Amino acid sequence: MSNYFIVGASSGIGKAIAEDLAKAGHHVYGTFNKKQCGDQENLNYHFLDVMSENFDLSFLPEKIDGLAYCPGSIVLKPFHRIKADDFVSDYQLQTIGAIKTIQAVLPKLKDSGNASIVLFSTLAVQTGLNFHSMVASSKGAIEGLCRALAAEFAPSIRVNCIAPSLTDTPLAANLLNTEEKKLANAQRHPLKRVGSAEDISNLACFLLSEKSSWMTGQILHLDGGMSALK
Ligand SMILES: NC(=O)c1ccc[n+]([C@@H]2O[C@H](COP(=O)([O-])OP(=O)(O)OC[C@H]3O[C@@H](n4cnc5c(N)ncnc54)[C@H](OP(=O)(O)O)[C@@H]3O)[C@@H](O)[C@H]2O)c1
Repeated sequence: MSNYFIVGASSGIGKAIAEDLAKAGHHVYGTFNKKQCGDQENLNYHFLDVMSENFDLSFLPEKIDGLAYCPGSIVLKPFHRIKADDFVSDYQLQTIGAIKTIQAVLPKLKDSGNASIVLFSTLAVQTGLNFHSMVASSKGAIEGLCRALAAEFAPSIRVNCIAPSLTDTPLAANLLNTEEKKLANAQRHPLKRVGSAEDISNLACFLLSEKSSWMTGQILHLDGGMSALK
């Protein structure tokens, strides 16, 4: 059984990943920020705010076999209404938070000898979408980071990135809070539905496992066909 560290395991996709890995019998160390969570079998929760200077990961064991970094944001605004500082704070959460986390746990991932990192991008990097300039900028950096670290860490640590389209989690609640919005968003997708946290967790668990041991540096478009089909 492996040790997994899931940052942002109190909600949405990270919660689904943490619970799926714990149910499979792995030891999972998950974090919450605002939404405090109680421990479950094989799943221990700890507080972490990646925006704070106090980056205490002393609760982690010596060796970590897999890391998923899940904090993110979706702020959709016309470009001219976004201040430069807003881009900086989004980048701090989505990109610098991932960098700080990876740097802090790198020795533990190296100890595994066979570790896997999963990062999250968005459809809006591959496909230009109105009002997505902020998230596309931060997640574009994540895609570059993924490929660069995959090269630097091979062969001992694999790094892959999932780029979902709209997925039904608390993060996307404003976009899916009426039946009309749900239906319209489902219809935009060639597969006629938005994603679920479980859709994304299935792929993340595969990427974190030995079953994907020949895959690194990939951006996986998990988006109901949005990025590939007309
Ligand atoms: N949902 C979508 O439509 C969608 C689409 C494309 C990409 N994504 C990406 O997928 C990833 C997961 O998204 P999600 O929908 O599962 O989001 P979510 O439901 O909002 O969950 C985000 C998690 O990150 C944690 N978090 C937020 N701020 C944090 C901070 N400062 N320090 C530490 N942890 C923090 C949250 O903790 P608390 O809840 O405890 O505060 C929560 O556990 C994100 O990177 C997102 O950008 C999502």
